[in-house]
Amino acid sequence: MVTKLKVFSGSSHPELAQRICDHLDVPLSKSEVVRFQNENLMVKIQENVRDCDVFVVQTSSPPVNEGIIELLIMIDALRSASAARITAVIPYFPYCRSDKKDKPRISIAARLMADLLQTAGANRVLTMDLHSPQIQGFFRVPVDNLEAAPIICDYYRERDLSDFILVAADAGEAKELGRYANRLHLPIAIIDKRRYGDDDQAHAQHLIGTVRGKHALIVDDEIATGGTLLEAAAFLHKEGALSVGATATHPVLCGHALERIANSGLNEVVVCDSIAVSERLNTPQLRERIKVLSVSHLFAKAIRRIHDGDSISSLFR
Ligand code: R5P
Repeated sequence: MVTKLKVFSGSSHPELAQRICDHLDVPLSKSEVVRFQNENLMVKIQENVRDCDVFVVQTSSPPVNEGIIELLIMIDALRSASAARITAVIPYFPYCRSDKKDKPRISIAARLMADLLQTAGANRVLTMDLHSPQIQGFFRVPVDNLEAAPIICDYYRERDLSDFILVAADAGEAKELGRYANRLHLPIAIIDKRRYGDDDQAHAQHLIGTVRGKHALIVDDEIATGGTLLEAAAFLHKEGALSVGATATHPVLCGHALERIANSGLNEVVVCDSIAVSERLNTPQLRERIKVLSVSHLFAKAIRRIHDGDSISSLFR
């Protein structure tokens, strides 16, 4: 029996789910989320999913905690409705920075997310550029971690990259930077970034490599408050960079990030639509500075391959 592929969307990014469906040429399946006055949620799956291969798209964006609960309840509802297999499609993984016990008496919340998803009934997970790839190991079910690098590099390949250098915003990003360097054939430098507290304040300490007389392109997995990015940009200018631009997969852009980027001396900042951002680019200055690339076709390809039992890694060779 060939199981039918169905795609559902949570409330976090229905536009991305619709774009994925457009690429797959399947309709977005119907569900409804009811919010009661006591703040409890009820998810109603509004079509038959018995024996279907179901994909639920829900990224992590504000309200983050409500989005997680909604996803868990959706998965549980689909399981009760006899879906044959449920894949949680989570472009930006919640609590991905809580991936280690680097302070006493804290939770490794990313592992807790993995436990919750599996308990709810997720049979597999499809995500993108996990903050640390070992988060995959928190799961006992298969996890496919897609890379945005090919999409971002295709964009830059169309530009003149003479005298460009790629810069990792911190040592944690250095390995990923290698992937960009291989694709774009550019030299690299790495910033030694430190954090001294829980105040989101990043401090650029040293530079491994040299950016003098070059156009620096900062590569990171996400831009959250923008603290890392702005600190890195100022540091690179001080180190003699001719200009500084940036790219990051996930535009978390919380706090005053957009305002900070708008008022910065940064060149273009390239991000992906793993999180909904376009509506927030509400000034000509922001629209000019922040370029959003869609990853919907990559998710659609991956979903098709999972459904057909084909390789995902071959997408990146
Ligand atoms: C940290 O390890 C990440 O790679 C990013 O550099 C960080 O999440 C960015 O956060 P923020 O924009 O708040 O400095």
